[in-house]
Amino acid sequence: MQIIRSTPDMRAIRQDWRQAGGKVVLVPTMGALHDGHLSLVARARDWLDEQGGGRVVTSIFVNPTQFGPNEDLDRYPRDEAGDLAKLRGAGCDAVFLPQVSDIYRPGAQTHVEVAGLGRILMGRLRPGHFRGVATVVTKLFNIAQPDAAAFGEKDYQQLTLIRRMVADLDIPVTILPVPTRREADGLAMSSRNQRLTPEDRAAAPVLARALDRGEALIADGAGVAQARRAIRDILRAEPRAEIRSIDIRDAEDLSRVTVPARPVVILLAVRFGDVLLIDQRVAHP
Ligand code: PAF
Repeated sequence: MQIIRSTPDMRAIRQDWRQAGGKVVLVPTMGALHDGHLSLVARARDWLDEQGGGRVVTSIFVNPTQFGPNEDLDRYPRDEAGDLAKLRGAGCDAVFLPQVSDIYRPGAQTHVEVAGLGRILMGRLRPGHFRGVATVVTKLFNIAQPDAAAFGEKDYQQLTLIRRMVADLDIPVTILPVPTRREADGLAMSSRNQRLTPEDRAAAPVLARALDRGEALIADGAGVAQARRAIRDILRAEPRAEIRSIDIRDAEDLSRVTVPARPVVILLAVRFGDVLLIDQRVAHP
């Protein structure tokens, strides 16, 4: 597995790969890898097999511009040696580990903002977050020049926003959505789970139970308000869960819905102590 630590090296290696032939899939991450990330690598590998072969490159970069001033940038888990071992085991071909100074150079004045999707839902809870995401993903696409890139469905708004950005800016990268991996008790895998206290970890599967109920109600023809109430009641019954948002939106463009006529996505953001967990489920009426 090649370890690439600078933008010029990434560009040079990409050029070599182009000459050697085959496609490239980028798996953008912020490290602290778990099985959910490894399923992104597996999806990338499957796509390459369908396309006649190529290389998977995973980027590990804790992107400062997507963290707000009171957010957990400093406490974000970092484990380079562990991450590299996992990626080797998963059959990743290369890892790109740029420095902050490599990605954000002094004097930079340009950023990418998906104006509508970036300001609603989590964008209201975390102002500037999606601008940071859209900017860094665009930069990673420009540096690694992948044919495709894999993103988890767990960060559903991020996935929707990146699809919109790629379409709006004619970026020639195929977006590969990857289903959420879950622990045995239903908790969605996330690097943030490491920071939960044992008591909060035991309580956190309430998100999956609330999503199960919401999905079942929508499937039975319930309206958004009724499904939302049922989800809220389940979450409120767990004293360790602090509800930040419960939204049920159109699964395609995240627009508001009252009576679902086509698939919707249930989006939850719930705090346990100082850890904000998100989860989602697509529900079919
Ligand atoms: O989903 C993430 O881990 C990050 O938001 C991403 C896409 C790697 C951009 O920093």
